[in-house]
Amino acid sequence: MRAPVPEVQADPRARVPARWRKEVERILITEGQIARRIRAMSRDIVRDFTGREMVVVSLLNGTVMFLADLIRNLSLPLRLDFIGVSSYGAGTESGDLVFTKELRLDVRGRDVLLVDDILDTGKTLGRVLGKLRVLQPRRIKTCVLLNKAARRVEAVEADYVGFEIPDLFVVGYGLDFAERYRNLPFVGVLHPHVYKQACQQVIPARPRKAGRRRGR
Ligand code: IMP
Ligand code: MG
Repeated sequence: MRAPVPEVQADPRARVPARWRKEVERILITEGQIARRIRAMSRDIVRDFTGREMVVVSLLNGTVMFLADLIRNLSLPLRLDFIGVSSYGAGTESGDLVFTKELRLDVRGRDVLLVDDILDTGKTLGRVLGKLRVLQPRRIKTCVLLNKAARRVEAVEADYVGFEIPDLFVVGYGLDFAERYRNLPFVGVLHPHVYKQACQQVIPARPRKAGRRRGR
């Protein structure tokens, strides 16, 4: 039996470092909470994949920190590869998906663990799962740090979830807004004034080059 996924409980003692206070409203998940949860998720994954050589497929760029912490807790033989995917969309909404890096490893007949930072509408994971299934792996399990179930439009669920979070735009621990804030060691709630301001600054440009490219 797997323990239920925790609803995130913000630590009232956690204070946003002064450097980020203007942009980050509050800390939603601290470094310590993330580390503890990843250790628990890793135990579930190890139990489910023991005896099989797994291929970890991680989506760039949002998984950088999560992936590094997750795989160092996976004491299993594994191979690692990446798929690059980003969306052309303004602000905090998902736009059209563009693949920026394709998978190199052969996953046919293999056990795949697909890792993403956050499951939001489900469009990204849905699209990537479709691509992977064509390659005929033995099975695919999905793993995300955060799940924003309230925003789902595609029928996609993850097998391993770090935290259930409310419908808030979050940054840090790999998650970005316009490629910024990935380096924060915690998950924080972005001040709405940051993305409202940024949207106003977007100047309509020529088709295709228009809009900022939002890395995943
Ligand atoms: P989906 O395709 O709507 O499920 O969105 C998944 C992708 O959108 C993630 O891989 C993130 O890159 C991005 N995303 C969704 N919600 C957030 C958020 O709150 N903060 C930062 N990025 C997000
Ligand atoms: Mg992103």
